[in-house]
Amino acid sequence: VTVRPAAPDEELGALTADSVAFSLPDSTARAERDHAIIGSGRFHLVELDGRVVGNTAAIPFELTVPGGATVAAAGVTAVGVVPTHRRRGVGRALMAAQLDDVAERGEPVAVLTASESQIYRRFGYGVATLAAHVAIDPRWAAMLVAPRAGGTVRLADRSRDDVVALVAEAAHRAVRARPGGLIRPRSVWAGVLAEERSFVGGGNPHVVLHLDDEGSPDGYLLYTATTSWDDGANPDGRLTVGELGGVSPEVEAALVDVACSVDLMVEVTMWRPADDWLRHRLVAPRQLRTRMVTDHLWVRLVDVAAALTARRYGGGPDRLVLEVVDRFRPASGGRFALEVDTDGTGRAEPSGDEPDLVLDVAELGSAWLGGVRVVDLAAAGLVAERTPGALARADAVLRWTPTPWCTARF
Ligand SMILES: CC(C)(COP(=O)(O)OP(=O)(O)OC[C@H]1O[C@@H](n2cnc3c(N)ncnc32)[C@H](O)[C@@H]1OP(=O)(O)O)[C@@H](O)C(=O)NCCC(=O)NCCS
Repeated sequence: VTVRPAAPDEELGALTADSVAFSLPDSTARAERDHAIIGSGRFHLVELDGRVVGNTAAIPFELTVPGGATVAAAGVTAVGVVPTHRRRGVGRALMAAQLDDVAERGEPVAVLTASESQIYRRFGYGVATLAAHVAIDPRWAAMLVAPRAGGTVRLADRSRDDVVALVAEAAHRAVRARPGGLIRPRSVWAGVLAEERSFVGGGNPHVVLHLDDEGSPDGYLLYTATTSWDDGANPDGRLTVGELGGVSPEVEAALVDVACSVDLMVEVTMWRPADDWLRHRLVAPRQLRTRMVTDHLWVRLVDVAAALTARRYGGGPDRLVLEVVDRFRPASGGRFALEVDTDGTGRAEPSGDEPDLVLDVAELGSAWLGGVRVVDLAAAGLVAERTPGALARADAVLRWTPTPWCTARF
């Protein structure tokens, strides 16, 4: 199986093949919309018998890490192999070539949101954030503490040229506030607002902006809503939050309040962090119903030393030697010494010392953003402690507040 980068004029064709892999209606309009969100120049293809049978692409994101710095992160997307060629190693070859490309570009990590959760760990991706799908009857959404962010909210007119830039600015500020936030390239925001994909509930989203006291956007809400009436002629509308982000919990609370104040709705659904403060803020916390908790952002460390050096830590001063097992891409694995100072800065470099902990690159990817704890991964049988006490030390060093959260799906 030979993988090659796609020429720019092949990218739309690759996305058409991708609709076959995903069993989606094959439409040029859909391929064009997806292309606007993904951008150009990062597609890889496998061609057999003169046609594209597999493809993958990457969106150049910046990812916020614990402490607030950002690193370049390849956002793996549009991974598809046509049904006639599946389970013959095409997907594996695409994954390998794409990670080599990520390494060549100097991006320390790749990230993705998965269609199915059993696929990507074998390629070294680990679950780094958990998302809860929650529903609430908005009549039960009263808060114990009213939002205190100040500023204003306004419904934005999607057809106005400046809305894309305003939403992008709000989102870029919001995703810096918490690890796990993905900064999209500014060029894709028009595509994001134009999309009609099922995860924003179908139909074009309404856009609400939160503006700070200076009038600058510091939060945004994308939602769709459908109105219907039940047998008794009572309103039975459903509102789906596509994305909601703000620079602080106060701004987010103001936007949740907006979503729960739309008339004629009996249900508001949204994705929230698994350890959400929102439940504590509600007068009737049980009314926030969790439908499921699912893996959301998967992280694949490609340059372990650079990724570890980019983030901040707790528990310092300390020094831990990690043996990182990477069967899929051995060039990314090895032994690394992580030195953490009292001020939270960390420095990692290859080391020949005996390891304190042994873990797969997927588990280090999970723990790297500070939300998934190494003690839990050890309890799951996935981390081996070689130096007594090292697990508790690693837990104190790696875990982070606030826990990581990612609003984007891609
Ligand atoms: C996911 C997909 C790209 C995999 O492509 P593929 O060419 O069949 O994958 P490979 O043959 O290289 O499989 C590699 C390994 O992953 C396993 N695997 C791949 N996809 C799997 C799946 N959906 N479920 C279970 N196992 C899977 C294979 O069994 C194989 O296992 P091995 O490590 O024991 O050899 C393909 O199934 C597909 O297009 N699915 C529909 C679209 C989709 O869900 N894409 C993912 C988007 S996030």
